[in-house]
Amino acid sequence: MPVARFPKTYRDRDRFAVILLPSSFCQLLEKARKASLTLKTGCCSAPANIALVKYWGKEPGCCQVPLNSSLSFTLGGFRSHTIIQPAASSFFLDGRLEVLPARMQETLEEIMQHLGQKTALRIESANTFPAACGIASSASGGAALIGAISDALRLSDFFSEKEHTLWLTEGARLFSGSATRSVLPAAFVLWERIPDSFNTKTHAIRTCQDFQSLAHGVVMLDQTEKAISSSQGHKEATTSPLFPLRHAALPFVLKNTQEALLQGDWLTLEMHAEHEAFALHAITQTTKSPVCYLSNATTTFLATFIAERYRQNLRALWTIDAGPNVHLLCPQQELPALKAVLQTIAHDLYTSITVLFNNASDFIAIGADQIATLPSTLIRQEVFAP
Ligand code: DP6
Repeated sequence: MPVARFPKTYRDRDRFAVILLPSSFCQLLEKARKASLTLKTGCCSAPANIALVKYWGKEPGCCQVPLNSSLSFTLGGFRSHTIIQPAASSFFLDGRLEVLPARMQETLEEIMQHLGQKTALRIESANTFPAACGIASSASGGAALIGAISDALRLSDFFSEKEHTLWLTEGARLFSGSATRSVLPAAFVLWERIPDSFNTKTHAIRTCQDFQSLAHGVVMLDQTEKAISSSQGHKEATTSPLFPLRHAALPFVLKNTQEALLQGDWLTLEMHAEHEAFALHAITQTTKSPVCYLSNATTTFLATFIAERYRQNLRALWTIDAGPNVHLLCPQQELPALKAVLQTIAHDLYTSITVLFNNASDFIAIGADQIATLPSTLIRQEVFAP
């Protein structure tokens, strides 16, 4: 097996190992540092994403180098809006003054120091969706932070388009792995682990027209904060005996999923996405310190949804990240049928079902002018009563 070349290293946020960044990204930081750019106020609005092929497990001691490639759908309405200003350090989340999360502080220090910029910033961030709804705000939050720095330094004027894309994908990855899939103007994004190296590449993938704007909603089943973070879960992943099995099958799963997206083959897409979700949870439940992210409400809903979907011949798929809430996706024309199924489930289970529907298919918006073009209603809440 060829030996991977270690790119330039940076101080690790855990302070016991090194962070490995691709040399191309280090060159970008260096180029911007030499130019001594002036930091102004900057803003960005970035979408979250939901993985159909999951990122689970990362290289120890590296900076978000995933053990496998992953593929996601961009959630245009589930967004983080971030404004940064050079001022005394403070952090506001949804209007409340909070302590800057350690991960945000460390990523900022890492990046701003290498850009030769001050790390004292006033940061305001707000999400269009509630915390703990099964959407990692680290993806949209990380993407929005990197986009806001880009706006504050007017990096899109300074870098070429290719360089700016690299800045966004690699900068977001520094913050959180899944954030790298939230910075491209694309409905479906592949975050690829380059074999025999510690490098990754984030790129848009092509799909058939029908799949470009899928309908999406999150079924809100449990809003309690998860006990074990995804970052902790990544560290444990390889201790599951099921990990190698999933890993061996992934190249096939990724290839087939991409073909299904291109050809409009819904059943193949549905099969792989749901196998992936089950595989993720089978792994988390069989590690040395097992974690079950699913609640009773999740399994009851899923079993009923799967049965009802077949009964009503509905084209809709489900997936779940490291949390108890269920994401549903379907072609736009199937949305009325999906709502009918949700209504039947609410009736059969004699319980109200709350769904947050995605109301936008917009991508990252950097700077006030782009943000102004976003729709005013990004998410719609619907309650299906028994
Ligand atoms: C289950 O991106 O939150 O949502 O890189 O440690 O920040 P860090 O992890 P994170 O992991 C996401 C895991 C997942 C699957 C996915 O989004 O691919």
